[in-house]
Amino acid sequence: MTLAIKASGLAKAYGDVIALNGIDIEVEQGTVLGLLGPNGSGKTTTVRILATLLQADSGSASVGGFDVATQPDEVRSVIGLTGQYAAVDEYLTGRENLELFGRLFHLSKFDAAKRATELLDRFDLSDAADRGIKGYSGGMRRRLDLAASLIGRPNVLFLDEPTTGLDPRSRQGMWAVIEDLISEGTTVLLTTQYLEEADQLANRIVVLDHDRIEIVCESAQDVARAASLIQEFGSAPATSEEVVKTVLLPVAGGSTAIVNIVRKLDENKIAIADIALRRPTLDDVFLSLTGHATEADEAISAPAKGRRGRKARS
Ligand SMILES: Nc1ncnc2c1ncn2[C@@H]1O[C@H](COP(=O)(O)OP(=O)(O)OP(=O)(O)O)[C@@H](O)[C@H]1O
Ligand SMILES: [Mg+2]
Repeated sequence: MTLAIKASGLAKAYGDVIALNGIDIEVEQGTVLGLLGPNGSGKTTTVRILATLLQADSGSASVGGFDVATQPDEVRSVIGLTGQYAAVDEYLTGRENLELFGRLFHLSKFDAAKRATELLDRFDLSDAADRGIKGYSGGMRRRLDLAASLIGRPNVLFLDEPTTGLDPRSRQGMWAVIEDLISEGTTVLLTTQYLEEADQLANRIVVLDHDRIEIVCESAQDVARAASLIQEFGSAPATSEEVVKTVLLPVAGGSTAIVNIVRKLDENKIAIADIALRRPTLDDVFLSLTGHATEADEAISAPAKGRRGRKARS
């Protein structure tokens, strides 16, 4: 078995916010890994580390056999990346954008033009090729972005939320294009917030989700203030209407965050009745991705053929 991507114990913090808390990933060559997780779970952070755009605080990773920390140039020569936000230039046409990317990849003028025409054709953008991309639809932009990431014929492709914000028809179109690439043997790591997307495209799925810290205040009057004070240690805190006096805060590094939270609330004279760390269950993950609980666990316990799911904490 040859691994195209291997990461172990990747961790990253932005100041006090722990974005990743030691995640492990293995992607076999020619397969697709879906990295599934709600907002703020660390998907983009993971992709940026693997694509050498960001340095991990600890842990190690290799892509295409090259170490991301010590051989970034080699890694870049074998990967393509389509980011969550478009990298194409608004003021150029579709063709000009692809030619520009070609030149950045050191193709000759002639080869860059040839490759651009090929890709425009392949992604059904030939008719719009000479129009400014300002007038492109969301789906067309995503296809152009993907085309741009393929200029250098990468073996390993990172797609960060390739269909977020697209309507169902454009999403299907994007899936078809990605499936095409997969059938040619490209190794793909894609991130998504959609269970069905991971199910449709991925051979394996890794679920990223945060721990939750549950804080019960002595006084119900303190809850709103507590929620805003501790926000900086995690993602959006939720206050519970059913269980009064309680704040739930999703965090990546549970034990570190607990210490910070207790200190912060104490400094602000907010009395804590109880504080607890809850690891996410598969039900929690499903709920945060879909907004509703599992129906008889149907969606989760019936994986498609040959697929294995596993859970990772971020
Ligand atoms: N540059 C930054 N500075 C500070 N905090 C950051 C930065 N980038 C990300 N974070 C925090 O790190 C955590 C993980 O962010 P990341 O963007 O990796 O999540 P994500 O899964 O890609 O989310 P989304 O689904 O919204 O794209 C979040 O809590 C986020 O607020
Ligand atoms: Mg993201």
